[in-house]
Amino acid sequence: MRKIEAIIRPERLQDVQDALDELGVSGLTVSDVVGCGRQKGYTEQYRGARANISLLPKIKVESVVPPGVVDAAVEAIVGAARTGEIGDGRVFVYPVEQAIRIRTGEHGEDTVMHEEAEGWGH
Ligand SMILES: Nc1ncnc2c1ncn2[C@@H]1O[C@H](COP(=O)(O)OP(=O)(O)OP(=O)(O)O)[C@@H](O)[C@H]1O
Ligand SMILES: [Mg+2]
Repeated sequence: MRKIEAIIRPERLQDVQDALDELGVSGLTVSDVVGCGRQKGYTEQYRGARANISLLPKIKVESVVPPGVVDAAVEAIVGAARTGEIGDGRVFVYPVEQAIRIRTGEHGEDTVMHEEAEGWGH
């Protein structure tokens, strides 16, 4: 298993989420974060104005997926998050040792495989 961590523009979240849903990605975690890349934040635009601040608001999306889904998921995220302007974000991929579904005690890759949707709230 791998964890995909994507730091994206907040306004691209819905498209990124939709793209991952289409792949049947079984879950994700989303956090509000601040950060900077190569330009240290200074040359990026924020809400239409040139913002003289070093940390800009971004969204972090984390999803643990089976190995066979990593490339497609990264491609989906990049495609949905890109505007072509600086500050579009970054994607990092990490190895994951183990995954456990707390309710059932299941372990391993099966817990992050594509499954039939169980509906909202599951
Ligand atoms: N090396 C890094 N380590 C951890 N987080 C990073 C790193 N680089 C960028 N980030 C995170 O990604 C966000 C977006 O980075 P950004 O898109 O500006 O990267 P970049 O490499 O400067 O690319 P670009 O030249 O397109 O702006 C940052 O605000 C920060 O949260
Ligand atoms: Mg940058």
